[in-house]
Amino acid sequence: MCGIVGYIGGRSAWPIIVKGLQRLEYRGYDSAGVAVINDGGLLVRKCKGKVADLVQMVKGQDLSGSVGIGHTRWATHGVPNDVNAHPHTSMNGKFVVVHNGIIENYREIKARLVEKGYSFKSQTDTEVLANLIESFYLNEKLTAEQAVKAALRRVIGAYGLGIICTDEPGILIAARKGSPIAIGVAQGEYFLASDATPIVEYTDQLIYLDDEQVAVLSSDGYTISNLNDVHVDPVITHVDFDADNIDKGGFDHYMLKEIHEQPQSIADTMRGRVQSETHTINLGGIADAMPRLASARRIIVVACGTSFHAGLVGEYLFEQFARIPVEVEYASEFRYRDPIINDDDVIIAISQSGETADTLAAIRMAHEKGALVLGVCNVVGSSIARETDAGIYTHAGPEIGVASTKAFTSQVVVLAMMAFALGRRRGNIDEATYASLIDGLVAIPSLIAQVLDSEPQIREVSRAYQLAQNAIYLGRGYLYPVALEGALKLKEISYVHAEGYPAAEMKHGPIALIDNCMPVFVLATHDKFYDKIVNNIQEVKARRGQVVAIVTKGDCEISKMADYVIEIPECDDALLPLVAVVPLQLISYYVAVMRGCNVDQPRNLAKSVTVE
Ligand code: F6R
Repeated sequence: MCGIVGYIGGRSAWPIIVKGLQRLEYRGYDSAGVAVINDGGLLVRKCKGKVADLVQMVKGQDLSGSVGIGHTRWATHGVPNDVNAHPHTSMNGKFVVVHNGIIENYREIKARLVEKGYSFKSQTDTEVLANLIESFYLNEKLTAEQAVKAALRRVIGAYGLGIICTDEPGILIAARKGSPIAIGVAQGEYFLASDATPIVEYTDQLIYLDDEQVAVLSSDGYTISNLNDVHVDPVITHVDFDADNIDKGGFDHYMLKEIHEQPQSIADTMRGRVQSETHTINLGGIADAMPRLASARRIIVVACGTSFHAGLVGEYLFEQFARIPVEVEYASEFRYRDPIINDDDVIIAISQSGETADTLAAIRMAHEKGALVLGVCNVVGSSIARETDAGIYTHAGPEIGVASTKAFTSQVVVLAMMAFALGRRRGNIDEATYASLIDGLVAIPSLIAQVLDSEPQIREVSRAYQLAQNAIYLGRGYLYPVALEGALKLKEISYVHAEGYPAAEMKHGPIALIDNCMPVFVLATHDKFYDKIVNNIQEVKARRGQVVAIVTKGDCEISKMADYVIEIPECDDALLPLVAVVPLQLISYYVAVMRGCNVDQPRNLAKSVTVE
């Protein structure tokens, strides 16, 4: 969590930093700050609130200076307030630090620094780090770079860092362990940031630091070395990233834009992989791993949040088509329960950001136990993408809204492609079925476009339930994970308590919650569970619950019982999650807007969860 930005070069750092912070606000937005060095010395400005509050606070002030760092925070240590906001300055004003991550042994370091006479203004672990660096610098007469390395050799935990030193104003230092750092390389200037989004409008040449690497940037060049001073030859990655992609494109919110992008993002996920004319699926990213995947004894999917729900859809897909047993695990549980992993298991880690700390830790553990680890990530060059043995990028484009929408559908498309290709390879799917599944996949973008045409009706349904305090989502089979996802979307952006259940589970407890104030969103399409789900709807209506049913176009039975129906076009059961999730995304979006919630930046959340 937290976003950091830095700049050194010939331009004024402040406008570059502030724009970068706005692009990174999805990573945290409870306070923001910036530090620049100019001829007058060091200027640090920070405040509780969003980057816009910082901009307002410094209006009219001279923040010129061509080296600087900035931060937008998601609080871990210390409540969000002006003092705990980053950057943090060391006691004697020599070092200024912005930090993404957690220094786990900060208490003992702080105690030692207090003994040496250091005092602290904030409750943060970052201020401890700033002072630790300064104590090495002053006591052992080190250079700024050496002092940073000496301090980082002492810390336990995770960090992505931007550091400036008032005695060495011509350099900007970056370091990484656990939390991502991208460095943008341009002519006579360098950028650093938590991901590529603040950098891509200035340069397409990026270096992603690896763990325990330190970069020293100046307008004359840069060096990268590890904590033991061993020089590292950087790998410069060319990023193909359209800066226009990170604007709202005329929509009121990123979330709405991203919901509407799904026909395109899904097409992008399939581009070059699904050939509709020849009915083939070509997954180059896992081609070498395919034999081992095809003979896996078991697939274990690890993920968090929405990516976990995509993984649950994957379980149905892999078991139906590939006939390989699948377990889907919350990464946070998996990593701590000493799971049994054999070397003929294959782990699939799913992560939009590719930086989720628990998922990253889970794949490291699986690696140690000898399993093949595959990644399904959206962010190119992210930590999970780099640490997996092979993988498939979702290519959904940047997802800025904190609530994940287009990433989910692209993840499901990747899992469907994998399951179909595996099923064919293992001889479980005949040629005709394979061709028809591929035709079904290719048709999904246009089916989603049809659902998006119903947006005005979906908005009116949302209006009817905007004041609800609770909601239940029910689905069966492939639509059970969609029920979970619908409930997650509603609670995270509308702050309405919502629960998703397999529909048949309702009578084992949740049915007690049903009264005339309880909206129940039922996924009731023409699949093999249709008759059963009709019975579930009747059970809800018998208890005077309010039913909003997502039905197959042309259904005339359910409209007689439900309070509202939203029609979606027909498609293969296995692909239904891709279509059925869209009305639920729109409902949560409109309920949140009608309740006056900050849709793109819901309270307490952050897009990239780099702390466990
Ligand atoms: C929900 C949401 C989160 C993420 C979760 C995993 O809308 O965005 O639940 O899905 O934090 O994030 P990634 O996919 O980046 O690992």
